[in-house]
Amino acid sequence: MARRKIIAGNWKMNKTPSEAVALVNELKPLVANEDVDVVFCVPAIDIIPAMIAAKDSNICIGAENMYFEESGAYTGEISPNMLVDAGVKYVVLGHSERREYFAETDETVNKKVLKAFEHGITPIICCGETLTQRKQGIYLDWIRMQIKIAFQNVTADQAKTAVIAYEPIWAIGTGETATSDQAEEVCGAIRACIAEVYDEATAEAIRIQYGGSVNAGNAAELFAKPDIDGGLVGGASLKADFGKIVNYNK
Ligand code: PGA
Repeated sequence: MARRKIIAGNWKMNKTPSEAVALVNELKPLVANEDVDVVFCVPAIDIIPAMIAAKDSNICIGAENMYFEESGAYTGEISPNMLVDAGVKYVVLGHSERREYFAETDETVNKKVLKAFEHGITPIICCGETLTQRKQGIYLDWIRMQIKIAFQNVTADQAKTAVIAYEPIWAIGTGETATSDQAEEVCGAIRACIAEVYDEATAEAIRIQYGGSVNAGNAAELFAKPDIDGGLVGGASLKADFGKIVNYNK
């Protein structure tokens, strides 16, 4: 069975609550596409206003991060229950910016992944190599390690519903996109790694996105690759262009 494409915007630290409402209202008619799951991952404070603005549309509102404890003395963090109560279905976990600036590790990503599943939230699990790692020729080993740690103690049934985002760090926000062949090589290797850890059925079901300077001009070629099931889109998700990316197949 063909996997359904999933195209997610990652707003990062952009848009105030009122700006979020305006952007959702602007994009709502542009991102209609019944063939694709469309997710806007927005800053925590924008989740509820964006959710209200997205009502009666195909837009699903997601979060950009979540903590792995249920509640308590963790000033500034957002719990899984808070996301569930707000109606959130997806959460981005382990984005390279979280790893670089906020000391997230493969181990904390794994804890968050397990928590998300426990609460019925679909994690969008990010992985990706630096330019140095690519040049050293160790990028596939590195990504396999990130995936194997992120999925520790995750069951096959849970893994089947997960989303993985392959985001080469050198392509994020740089305007330099991986070629579709480079992206496919890694997304295929991730699927093979899932088959190794679980089984073929899990590998066939899991959805793998490419992220890193996806735009209206390169989306169709990237998403046509057999192991690329959509994209995680930063900069271009804040513009009308996101409608063209979502409608890459029209
Ligand atoms: P970009 O960001 O599309 O602006 O490169 C992608 C991401 O970081 O998810």
